[in-house]
Amino acid sequence: MEDCGPNMFNHIPVLLNEVLEYLDPEPNRSFIDGTVGQGGHAEAILQRVTPVVRQSSGRLLAIDRDAANLAIAKQRLAGFGDAVVFIHDSYAHVKRHALANGFARVDGILLDLGFSSAHVDDPGRGFSFQHNGPLDMRYNQSRGETAADIVNAWSEDELARVFRQYGEEPKAREIAQAIIARRKERLFEQTQDLSECVQKVIPRRGKIHPATRVFQALRMAVNDELGELSRALPDLIDLLQPGGRIAVISFHSLEDRVIKTFLKERRDLSMVTRRPIVPTREEITRNPRSRSAKLRVAQKV
Ligand SMILES: C[S@@+](CC[C@H](N)C(=O)[O-])C[C@H]1O[C@@H](n2cnc3c(N)ncnc32)[C@H](O)[C@@H]1O
Repeated sequence: MEDCGPNMFNHIPVLLNEVLEYLDPEPNRSFIDGTVGQGGHAEAILQRVTPVVRQSSGRLLAIDRDAANLAIAKQRLAGFGDAVVFIHDSYAHVKRHALANGFARVDGILLDLGFSSAHVDDPGRGFSFQHNGPLDMRYNQSRGETAADIVNAWSEDELARVFRQYGEEPKAREIAQAIIARRKERLFEQTQDLSECVQKVIPRRGKIHPATRVFQALRMAVNDELGELSRALPDLIDLLQPGGRIAVISFHSLEDRVIKTFLKERRDLSMVTRRPIVPTREEITRNPRSRSAKLRVAQKV
């Protein structure tokens, strides 16, 4: 890999100041970043928990399902030495890793959900309908069904449900039917196969690409994003010590609903943010990918 120059990090951390304000990382504190990505938030947290005078024992458990992003985070955070522990896995398995690495009681937890800019910018990962590439979409490419496996095998009902539920796609049923018809002739292999098939149902008009909602829905299904989140939240809260805070950034209304309901219903938590924190207009102008972000924060009582 090349030098860690600034251009290597093509993902701009979202709501960074707000995350720092609410998690308030101070020297000697320990944190879990369950979606470390390219390490943007993690770097800012580590700078505060391990100040220049290196007698501080602040630590961070850095987890990501994506090997490529984790490798970038490792380079970026190398200067923090053994204050950071890197784990290549889903945050849904956080408890096991936390207990094994001395993070049984932490002061703060961050989840910054979904995909990173690196995923969409790399046609080889299959997240983008703008560039042709293998129809994959797995964060962890070493296991699980790819998007191609799903569109080539799932029933019309299952596909229609995914497109409707995760993508809020009004033409979910017609698209599922078009997929079944096409795969009888030829299986789906490339992102372009799918975006062309969708465009036969929804002709291209306006700024938003007709395949946007289908691609989003498939990405969420391939990675079981809502399932992983629902499974992880109770374990994450168990790892928080009293007074510790959890901050979750989501980009999808279903994710936000899962988070909001969970955080409000847990009796050992109090909500710190009454309404979700959203990016300022200035941040959206600087980083359009931040536009749908919502941050919710709760504190262990
Ligand atoms: C929005 S990015 C995080 C960016 C990061 N905060 C930064 O500043 O660079 C989301 C990351 O979450 C990872 N991810 C998604 N689902 C995951 C899961 N279940 N477990 C662990 N990582 C996951 C993705 O691979 C991606 O790197």
